[in-house]
Amino acid sequence: MSTPRYYITTPIYYVNDVPHIGHAYTSLASDVLARFKRLDGYEVMFLTGTDEHGQKVAKSAAAAGIEPQAFTDKVSQNFRDLMKTMNLTNDDFIRTTEERHKKSCQALWNELLKRGEIYLGKYDGWYAVRDEAYYGEDELTTTPSGKKIAPSGAECEWVEEPSYFFKLSAWGDRLLKFYDEHPDFILPPSRRNEVVSFVKSGMRDLSVSRTAMNWGVPVPNEPAHVMYVWLDALTNYITGVGYPDTNSSSYKRLWPADVHMVGKDILRFHAVYWPAFLMAAGLEPPRRVFAHGWWTNEGQKISKSLGNVIDPYELIKTYGLDQTRYFLMREVPFGNDGDFSRSAMIRRINSELANDLGNLAQRSLSMINKNCGGCVPTRGAFKDADNILLGKARALLGQLRQELDVQAFHKALDHVWLVIGDANRYVDEQAPWGLKKTDPARMETVLYVLAEVLRHVAIVLQPFMPDSMSKLLDQLAVPAGERDFAHIDDDTFALRSGAALPAPEGIFPRYMEAEHAG
Ligand code: MSP
Repeated sequence: MSTPRYYITTPIYYVNDVPHIGHAYTSLASDVLARFKRLDGYEVMFLTGTDEHGQKVAKSAAAAGIEPQAFTDKVSQNFRDLMKTMNLTNDDFIRTTEERHKKSCQALWNELLKRGEIYLGKYDGWYAVRDEAYYGEDELTTTPSGKKIAPSGAECEWVEEPSYFFKLSAWGDRLLKFYDEHPDFILPPSRRNEVVSFVKSGMRDLSVSRTAMNWGVPVPNEPAHVMYVWLDALTNYITGVGYPDTNSSSYKRLWPADVHMVGKDILRFHAVYWPAFLMAAGLEPPRRVFAHGWWTNEGQKISKSLGNVIDPYELIKTYGLDQTRYFLMREVPFGNDGDFSRSAMIRRINSELANDLGNLAQRSLSMINKNCGGCVPTRGAFKDADNILLGKARALLGQLRQELDVQAFHKALDHVWLVIGDANRYVDEQAPWGLKKTDPARMETVLYVLAEVLRHVAIVLQPFMPDSMSKLLDQLAVPAGERDFAHIDDDTFALRSGAALPAPEGIFPRYMEAEHAG
């Protein structure tokens, strides 16, 4: 059987900004999926990168007094650095100023032109540089001073320029049919409904070139036009797998993408414009667009002007990398908006990581170390309580597969913590410390069961907390080649009684407020 493939993307990030929690969040969620699928035997392509053209970036470069190319070279690097710092496993990093990408955009343009999907006209209307988006008069509100404001809160300016248009208005019915035939194309379902009603309300043709500014991919044979930055940016998803060479083995293997992970603010571009562009060019649309929610900070909208932007580097430094990864994936049902609060973060670190999981590992492994000669305990006949707990641990992988297939990270973690809770109760009920004198063989079996439950938990949690789980697996002496999902269930890969174990070490320290104060 051939290896199954999985292609996942993050949005490519505007290089006008330093990386913040929003960027970290979208990328982290994609990383968890990419890691999960790799462990599950898939060939994974995980793509991220930077969106470097357009008026917004050109303005930031001008404000910094640097040429746009030099500016984007510098800022793009910050996003690469964030990927490293967060231990994200992207397979490629695309920049829209790269030659491969220009070539790809121009090929897509030529294809759309050839098929009669693009025509020359004139754009008279509103444009919001912050969103890089066109708005109809009917979508805007007017401030007392007469400023026009988009639903996103971005200020709009009036634009009049010659422009090419994409015949979006002709694609409404085909898009609706596509959504109908692919009910899971847009998740979560509430977002899907929003998109469907937007498309049903009727769409205008979309302006896809700009002449008022020149920081973009040149339109072929039209020196006065550069491509609209969203047409350019979305195309990165096919550039990354080899477009325009649709016969290349990477394109054939990996397109259509399995998931475009995006924030809710950019869903329309991904779920309406992008599949329309692709279908119009005779290419397949992606399989899914998942729109996650937005974080607020201690109840407040995050904004540069309020000065409450959450810096992922600071979080990692203060709370630890895996703790931060865990919190972001656990705190908010994926798809909903959520509030970031330090007290919630500390609570979860101390109660769920340090107490529930950390203590379970620590006390089980210390008892093993002290009472079983530092080796995997000898496994005797299992009693009901052992079989029940082991059964629940063995069920985890199947449950996680199901949850992650619909990007329900929080539910996946809930399943794991239910088993961790059961395991902690099992330790209390079986009281292995009391068995040492009365029934040492039973003590060994109980400790064996605990170690085996920890092995399951650690293996399935690797995508979320890779470093800590690799330490835990080291402490269980699980060989490097037996940490993937193919090795989880089969009893032959279960811990081998008598195998030597290294000395146990805590993996999740409690977060002590006082130590970090000042
Ligand atoms: N360049 C476009 C995407 C082009 S994709 C073909 C873009 N870039 S961005 O840098 O603004 O993207 C930011 C990503 O971060 C989006 O997915 C957005 O939803 C996310 N977030 C920005 N602020 C956020 C929060 N406060 N909370 C969660 N995510 C948010 O859009």
